[in-house]
Amino acid sequence: MKTKGTSGRSFGGRQKVKTAKRRSAQSTRWLERQLNDPYVKLAKAQGYRSRAAFKLLELDEKFDFIRHSKAVVDLGIAPGGWTQVIRNKRPNAPIVGIDLLPVEPIEGAVIFEMDFTDNDAPEKILEALGQMPDLIISDMAANTVGHKQTDHLRTMGLVEMAVDFAVQHLVVGGTFIAKVFAGGTDKALLDILKANFTSVKHAKPPASRKGSVEWYVIAKGKKEKAADQFIDNREIDKRENNFGEED
Ligand SMILES: C[S@@+](CC[C@H](N)C(=O)[O-])C[C@H]1O[C@@H](n2cnc3c(N)ncnc32)[C@H](O)[C@@H]1O
Repeated sequence: MKTKGTSGRSFGGRQKVKTAKRRSAQSTRWLERQLNDPYVKLAKAQGYRSRAAFKLLELDEKFDFIRHSKAVVDLGIAPGGWTQVIRNKRPNAPIVGIDLLPVEPIEGAVIFEMDFTDNDAPEKILEALGQMPDLIISDMAANTVGHKQTDHLRTMGLVEMAVDFAVQHLVVGGTFIAKVFAGGTDKALLDILKANFTSVKHAKPPASRKGSVEWYVIAKGKKEKAADQFIDNREIDKRENNFGEED
């Protein structure tokens, strides 16, 4: 993010931003938060494109899934922080990413600018990867419209598609990580994950903002036989806002 030229003052080390005429109160708050966010500063200092990189680093520290990965798919890759983390830790592993938005190239990664929900997206990803993935990470979130239920359903729709992709294409023993909303995965989705993976946990890494409803689901040990399950009857559990983990 470009901070140069921002009109602001510092109070006890904390940057305040003047409300400019054409800047809404919401974007002023966003700007202020960015300027004072230690993860934004850290990302800049360490050359990461996004503060989201630290969420993946923290999840990996706790669940240790990157070290052995050999072929990785990054769903919702833009601007590329997660892929940079994978690239640094696994310099030779092929990575394929997809996003609606354009992404600056990342060495060793094939990136598609397309909608993951397109019918031919899965095939394109697998073809470019050249092998079955053993790690699928999804940070996809639908653009919010401000209506809580709508935002929740749209993002959970993307999660369902990512789960479906993972269940069908991950190698046996593989890992699936995805951003979920409202504290966790709904009951039906959780059942599918539990039927297809030996371990399913939820976590909120410290880099995930406290006020946000985002959590991550970490499913490890893809089982040999995919279980056929029907997704219905969604029930969202609210979970606490800490780096706890739950089944
Ligand atoms: C939070 S960002 C990802 C940040 C990324 N993990 C990083 O570290 O830089 C979520 C991304 O999901 C993408 N996204 C949302 N819906 C999508 C879809 N249907 N297909 C592909 N990407 C999508 C958005 O465009 C957005 O760039």
